[in-house]
Amino acid sequence: MIGSLREEVLELLLRRKGEPVSGESLADNFGVTRAAVWKAIEALRQEGYEVKSLPGRGYGLHAPKNTLRQAEVAALLSGGRFGGRCRVFDEIDSTNREAARWAETGGEEGSLVAAKFQTAGRGRLGRAWFGGEGSTLMFSLILRPKTPVAEVSKITYAAALALAETLSLWVKEEALEIKWPNDVLINGRKAAGILLESRLEGGAVDYVVLGVGINVKGSRADMPPEITRTAAILEEEATGYAPGVLEVLDAFLGKFEEAYGIFLHGGFEALKPRWDRWFRMAGKLVNVYGGGTVLTGRVNEMGGDGSLVILTDQGPRTVHAGDVEWATTKEPDGGKV
Ligand code: BTN
Repeated sequence: MIGSLREEVLELLLRRKGEPVSGESLADNFGVTRAAVWKAIEALRQEGYEVKSLPGRGYGLHAPKNTLRQAEVAALLSGGRFGGRCRVFDEIDSTNREAARWAETGGEEGSLVAAKFQTAGRGRLGRAWFGGEGSTLMFSLILRPKTPVAEVSKITYAAALALAETLSLWVKEEALEIKWPNDVLINGRKAAGILLESRLEGGAVDYVVLGVGINVKGSRADMPPEITRTAAILEEEATGYAPGVLEVLDAFLGKFEEAYGIFLHGGFEALKPRWDRWFRMAGKLVNVYGGGTVLTGRVNEMGGDGSLVILTDQGPRTVHAGDVEWATTKEPDGGKV
């Protein structure tokens, strides 16, 4: 009981942003005694929350600890389309899986699942995905867009745009780019990834799960060896203040809500001018893997429909989905960087 009362008290105090609330009204609000409220407040103080006792006025808490915890996440959600409801876990198999389970049982558009640790985190193309406990921001959103099935995968472009715009709050714009289709790089290394999964029913979209992982803090030494060279960590790249996971989540939700709204009304075409700001692939030599084949050539441009145009030795080719690797030679497997 005290555990959940503590969460409820914490969420309420955080929502009031320092405005004091009396022990009596907290007790009334949660249907408990004032002694129980006092115990919950003491427990929060022991955890390091600076809950002030203001004589005659009650308890006040100005600052969150900026951790991924149910009450902190719930308190920052505005009640708008995104994050109106949330489930936050210390550990889960995969936030994408949990979001899908929630969607199957009625989870609404904008419901959010976040976790400090994933035991079976998933990446694109069936890969496993590593996230550092408490240092990688890992979350998934349930979406229920009324979008034609053929357009659904492009939601990932809205998410990539929102990610780049979010990271630009702390990182120099020139250091950031979106590597088509949806990796966000800082100084050429991957800082964030997106996994979009959808379920169709009767030829229409039932729900979409948008999963996002962002390397916010942490040490390269804790990463699996295969990504230590290619991963970027926001804390290392930030020009000044380095944000906590909750601040990054808060910023992303705002940016994504905006980008998703534009996409729903105008499709990718409407987002493209903003995407172009982060698209720095033109002229680069790439290998594009997809559909069991590999295309090698120089990137020409990104089409208005979100496709990638590659200039190969056989002429221009348009790619609608795939995985891009930088190439330093024209051999498909040669000189990957
Ligand atoms: C990629 O770059 O391959 C995509 C990575 C997506 C990782 C996130 S972490 C939160 C969500 N849950 C998952 O299992 N995967 C996504």
